[in-house]
Amino acid sequence: MSYIRWTTGALLGVVTFACLAQAPAKKGKSDVKKQAFGNLPDGAPIELYTLSNAQGMQAGIMTYGGAVVSLTVPDRGGKYADVVLGMQDLAGYLTPVPYFGAIIGRYGNRIGKAQFTLDGKVFHLPANDAANTLHGGLKGFDKHVWKATAGSSAEGETLELTYTSQDGEEGFPGNLSAKVVYTLTAKNELKIDYTATTDKNTVVNLTNHSYFNLAGPGEGDILQHQVMIAADRFTPVDAGLIPTGELRPVKGTPFDFTKSTAIGARIGQDDEQLKLGKGYDHNWVLNKGSGGLTKAAEVHEPQTGRVMQVWTTEPALQFYTGNFLDGTLKGKGGKPYPRRGAFCMETQHYPDSPNKPAFPSTELKPGATYHTTTVYRFSAK
Ligand code: BGC
Repeated sequence: MSYIRWTTGALLGVVTFACLAQAPAKKGKSDVKKQAFGNLPDGAPIELYTLSNAQGMQAGIMTYGGAVVSLTVPDRGGKYADVVLGMQDLAGYLTPVPYFGAIIGRYGNRIGKAQFTLDGKVFHLPANDAANTLHGGLKGFDKHVWKATAGSSAEGETLELTYTSQDGEEGFPGNLSAKVVYTLTAKNELKIDYTATTDKNTVVNLTNHSYFNLAGPGEGDILQHQVMIAADRFTPVDAGLIPTGELRPVKGTPFDFTKSTAIGARIGQDDEQLKLGKGYDHNWVLNKGSGGLTKAAEVHEPQTGRVMQVWTTEPALQFYTGNFLDGTLKGKGGKPYPRRGAFCMETQHYPDSPNKPAFPSTELKPGATYHTTTVYRFSAK
């Protein structure tokens, strides 16, 4: 049963911001709660929705960027605690932060030289990462307010978020109607369904940019986490982190995670690709055909026993080890986020696909519907 409750603050019309102080989930009952999370400088109100399942797992999602701001999952002893990095309040998210938990669009990861050609026409995008475009440009989907509708499905509590990106926004063609549905399932999964339609030929590559530390945000680095990625190949990059076009076998390289291996085991090796990424910041080509929800990765944190599996319909996974975090950002509870204090597993099509005809296509045409699904499944052992 789903119900929505405004906090007293919101009922009284108080326009202050809420901090991330969540009531512990009551076991045995799933629900969705809505509270005011503050206002943007232009006054636009931002809400925080908290989805809870009957086991006690909670997902906090805000309408600014559709970002996951908290995610509590069980450890070996059944203790639920937060496993994602984020800021303490909305004001924190309005400072330059590296996409914590946000929906990324229109194009996840990089488009080389901030341009691409479609149907013979060159589209110029803002360059926001040296000469390239990263995560949709200067004002990507992470910096827009999404319209939210809470509900429930057979699988659990849902939060539907919609945003329509105007024709030409950040240089991309076509009015793009995007819908992202988060479902917190009864089986301790956060499921994300992305759909989009367009009225002109365009390109699209949506993902979520959650930063995970299964020992807790601000609890040291993630080098002891054990990672398996179901990929025999990855896409090596140039100095600007643009894929060269090669699909390189991982065998015999520090990129081989086909057997579960500690993130830190090889990250410091004298390897050209690790140096270019300042660690892992690459696109793994998943061992699958297109379509179908298949297991892409599994991560185990040995101290707490927490396990996260990633399942996706997408062909690839960006595994990023928080190489650009440097301890200066203070997140939830004022805790600094050190270098490699989190990892991201961004399910996606390959970076720079619009300029790489041999890569799986990211084109979307009018009349077609873009639809991808990714599931983050949590347990402990
Ligand atoms: C990119 C990184 C980038 C990070 C945060 C990742 O998806 O691959 O290079 O630093 O996002 O912006």
